[in-house]
Amino acid sequence: MKEHVPATPSTQKRATQGAPSVEVRHGDAFDLFDELPKSSIDLIITSPPYWGHRDYGLPHNWDFFNDIPTVREIGPVSPGYEWYRLHGGLLGLEPYPEWFVHHLAEILDKGKRSLKATGSMWINIGDTYFARWASIREQGRQGLGSEERYRRKTPLGGIRAEKNLLLIPSRFAIAMQERGWILRNDVIWHKPNAVPRPEADRLKNSHEHFFHFVKKPSAGRASYYYDLEQAEARASDVVTVNVAPGEAGHSATFPHALIEPRILTSSPPGGTVLDPFSGTGRALEVALEHGRSALGFDAQATFVQLQKTKLNGNLKQRTRELRQ
Ligand SMILES: C[S@@+](CC[C@H](N)C(=O)[O-])C[C@H]1O[C@@H](n2cnc3c(N)ncnc32)[C@H](O)[C@@H]1O
Repeated sequence: MKEHVPATPSTQKRATQGAPSVEVRHGDAFDLFDELPKSSIDLIITSPPYWGHRDYGLPHNWDFFNDIPTVREIGPVSPGYEWYRLHGGLLGLEPYPEWFVHHLAEILDKGKRSLKATGSMWINIGDTYFARWASIREQGRQGLGSEERYRRKTPLGGIRAEKNLLLIPSRFAIAMQERGWILRNDVIWHKPNAVPRPEADRLKNSHEHFFHFVKKPSAGRASYYYDLEQAEARASDVVTVNVAPGEAGHSATFPHALIEPRILTSSPPGGTVLDPFSGTGRALEVALEHGRSALGFDAQATFVQLQKTKLNGNLKQRTRELRQ
């Protein structure tokens, strides 16, 4: 398959003759990945929940996972996401960061089956400083002080030391490599308008990672769809994009300028883009805008409803444009 094959105007036109489709499914990405036909997706692009930030209004078994003696007995090696979920655990609120890395890699590895051999997976993820007791709010750590919050407790030990930057993005990327994914880029997203922090003994964290993974072929070197001409000017692996304002009570929305080049470089015109943690549906909107079909998963029913209403409007508009 083509590595850097720019879409010519004629291929663009041909591919967008059939109207793109959009669908949003409600549920856990862990289950929904299994429902997809094999080799049906061109691009998986997402920003999953980060460790220890927010609960998105989803239920979590605080009593069980805040019980430090029980959690200590289980230890930092996760019994697996299925076990965790069965005990009422929510992705991102694991008592150990080690469990989170394991669960996220376990879930996203399921994308391998539905991703085409020529496909790509782009994962945006930020880091967390360790704190034995963290405040969790629906909107995240920076949420309003008056907002209801929970205390997430975590046993100390190993990397779990107060104030330690956990390097969660790197640990996650290594876990994916160990599962056989090929890492092609670690794009640094520099956020010039990152929120100021009160800490006086360190610099403010103003970047996140955007990893580009592809599938390892059974023989030879990885070869996948890629149109380098659609990347940012100078095709650098550091991109500067302001954090986007939240939408409909969701405070972690993808900035358009961050994902547009990823969608254009890594999915062919007319291809299918999946966001398995789709939130406000921003990636699906950008995919549709560029003539790709879009599929989203989200565990939060309110977000699913919001996306359906918004995206059906976008789809009608897009279909009208194609007819003109
Ligand atoms: C960081 S947000 C995604 C924001 C999105 N990129 C946007 O632009 O709006 C993560 C989303 O994952 C959803 N979520 C959390 N756990 C999930 C799971 N196990 N399966 C599917 N969605 C989940 C949350 O409801 C939330 O909307």
